[in-house]
Amino acid sequence: MALLTLMATLVVTTTAFPFLTDVPGVDMSALRDPRSSHNQKRQSTCPFNSNHQGAAPYNSKFPYTGAKDGLPGTGVGGIKVPATGDTAHAFEAPGPNDIRGPCPGLNTAANHHFLSHDGITDFSELVDAQQNLYNIDYGLAVLLATLGVGLDGDIVTGKLSIGCDATSRTSTTGSLLGEELGLDRHNTFEADTSLTRNDYFLANGDDYSFNGTLFGYMTTTCNGNFNRDNLALYRYQRYQQSKADNGNFYYGPKTVLLDGAASFLYELFPSLGPAGDPDLPTISSFFGAEKTPDGGWQFNNKETIPPNWLNRREPYNIVATAAEVLAVYLAHPVLFGGNVGKGNFDALSYGPITDGNLNATQQNIVCLLYQLATEDVPSSLSGVLTLPLQVLKWTTGKLNPVFKDLGCPLRIV
Ligand code: HEM
Ligand SMILES: *[C@@H]1O[C@H](CO)[C@@H](O)[C@H](O)[C@H]1NC(C)=O
Ligand SMILES: *[C@@H]1O[C@H](CO)[C@@H](O)[C@H](O)[C@H]1NC(C)=O
Repeated sequence: MALLTLMATLVVTTTAFPFLTDVPGVDMSALRDPRSSHNQKRQSTCPFNSNHQGAAPYNSKFPYTGAKDGLPGTGVGGIKVPATGDTAHAFEAPGPNDIRGPCPGLNTAANHHFLSHDGITDFSELVDAQQNLYNIDYGLAVLLATLGVGLDGDIVTGKLSIGCDATSRTSTTGSLLGEELGLDRHNTFEADTSLTRNDYFLANGDDYSFNGTLFGYMTTTCNGNFNRDNLALYRYQRYQQSKADNGNFYYGPKTVLLDGAASFLYELFPSLGPAGDPDLPTISSFFGAEKTPDGGWQFNNKETIPPNWLNRREPYNIVATAAEVLAVYLAHPVLFGGNVGKGNFDALSYGPITDGNLNATQQNIVCLLYQLATEDVPSSLSGVLTLPLQVLKWTTGKLNPVFKDLGCPLRIV
C-alpha cells in the first residue's frame, strides 16, 4: 500500500526555464512547485477531531432528491432544505477541531451535516450532498467530487479534507509519502483571484480564510445583486488587483473553475436557484459574513443555509456551467498566464488558450472541464501537475461515463 500511495502522489514536473532564476523579491522555488513553499497550513496545525462522524444519513421521510451512496438521485428539486422536521440536517457551527476551507458551498454542507461535520469527507458524501442540498446534476456533482478527491484527496480511500492537510485521516497508510493537502492546496483547484479568499503568496499561505475586506469589495461592486454581470465585473477587478500586487500571481487554465464557482452565487445559492434573488442576505448567509459596527464585514463562523430556503427546481449541469464560465469570462476577457515578479507578466498556452487568449465555444469549455481533470495541466508558469497512472485511471473511470454523451474526446487508459 505504501508503494501505491507513493506512486499515486501528484508531482509537479518542472521544465527548466533559464529566465526563472534570480528575480529579486520573488520566491522562485514557489514558482516552480506550489508545494515547496512551507507556508501552507501543515498537518501539525490542522485541526483534529477524534470523533469523526459521517454525514447524517438520508431516510425515506426526508429523501431530498433521493441521492444515496454516490449514485444519481431524481434531479427533482424545489425542495425545502433542511426539510421541516429534519433535525439531523440542522445547522451546527464548526468547533475548533473541525476543518473548514476555501469553499463556502462545502463548508455550509458540513455545517448542516450533509458532509461529515469534522470536514473529512469522501467521494460518496460529496456526490450525494451536492445533489440533495443544492440540486446539482449528478454529472456535475461527479466532476467536482472527482477534481476534489483526485487532486487534493485520496483515490484509494476516496477521502478528502475540505481544508488543510489531514493526510493521517484521508490516506490509507498515514504515510507522509502520499501527502494529500486538502482543498487548501494551492494551484491544484484553489487559485488566485478568489472572490473572498487571499492569494496564497500575498497572505503567507492563507488562501482559505474568509477575508471581510474582499467580501466588502464584492458587495460594493455587486450593490445588492450578485448576478452574472456584477460578478463578472468583480472577477475582473480581482484579476487586476492580483496581477498588480502579487509577484507570484498565477492565472492558469484551472482558473475557469473560479468562473464556474462565481456562477454558483446566482445559480445555486438563491432560494429556488435562478428563480430566486442573489441578494445580500442570501449571499452573506452562505459566506458566513456579518456586518461590523464600522460598516465592514467579518466572518461569523456560521456558513448557513438561509431560513425557508428551497433548492433549485432543475438540476445545474455541466453544459449549463460551461455556458456560465464562458459568459463570465467573455464579459471581461483577460490573459491567462502569470507574473515572474511584479509587473512582469507572461502569457501561457494550453488547450483553447493561445498566448493567453481563450478562444472557445461552449462545447470547448465542456471539454476543457474534462481535460482539467484528466490531463497534466500547467500549475505554474514552469511546472506541470503530473497525474500518476493510478490517478488517471481512477479519474477517467469516474468521468468517462459522465462525459460519454457530451461530445468530447475521451482518454482511455
Ligand atoms: C465536490 C465539490 C466541490 C469542490 C471539490 C469544491 C472546491 C472548491 C475550492 C477548492 C474552492 C477554492 C477556489 C478558489 O481558489 O477560490 C472553491 C470555491 C468556491 N466554491 Fe466550491 N467546491 C465544490 C462544490 C461547491 C458547491 C456545491 C458550491 C455551492 C453551492 C460551491 C461554491 C463555491 C464558491 C462560491 C466558491 C468561491 C469562494 C470564493 O472565491 O471566495 N462549491 N470550491
Ligand atoms: C484582506 O484583503 C485585503 C485586500 O486584498 C488585504 O489588504 C488584507 O491584508 C487581507 N486581510 C487579511 C487578514 O488577510
Ligand atoms: C477563434 O477560433 C475560431 C475557430 O477556430 C477562428 O476561426 C477564429 O479566427 C479565432 N479567433 C481569434 C480571435 O483567434
